[in-house]
Amino acid sequence: MFLPVLFALSFLFSSSNAADFCVGDLNAPQGHAGYSCKKAEAITVNDFVYSGLAATGNTSNRIKAAVTPAFSSQFPRAGFISSDNAVYVKTLGKGDGMVFPQGLLHFQINGGGTPAFALASFSCPSPGIQILDYALFANDIPIDIIRQTTFPDAAQIKKLKKVLGGTG
Ligand SMILES: *[C@@H]1O[C@H](CO)[C@@H](O)[C@H](O)[C@H]1NC(C)=O
Repeated sequence: MFLPVLFALSFLFSSSNAADFCVGDLNAPQGHAGYSCKKAEAITVNDFVYSGLAATGNTSNRIKAAVTPAFSSQFPRAGFISSDNAVYVKTLGKGDGMVFPQGLLHFQINGGGTPAFALASFSCPSPGIQILDYALFANDIPIDIIRQTTFPDAAQIKKLKKVLGGTG
């Protein structure tokens, strides 16, 4: 009987998204630890996206150089599916950046029809990366466990395991 797995997960993560991230409230006073957090109802996907790097910097100055910061005041913080299952989706253009809060399920799709280049940076020197498709279908978790904790039927799971190199 494996069903309690999903149940346990939803129980473990039943808190509001307030625990997932803190979007800096740039209108509130800044304290020692930075900005205080915006109220959850006021957070939108745009709090996680910054387009300032898409524009060429102005180098008409003495040192003929430009610095375009992407710090907390440009980029409030942290976004994409929060633990309360809210989805934050945005179509990004060239040079745009987006923050994914640590540990949250996220995705990128190249919708441009041509090769895309993405630069990822992490907040720790040795981040672990877990790809959901591989985690579920590229190993030897018994099909019956996957079937009971997700919803595809055994035939669909077998097909995905075959595509992704899993056994079991
Ligand atoms: C670039 O900087 C110079 C010097 O501050 C300024 O005169 C000029 O208007 C700026 N150009 C743009 C496109 O912002």
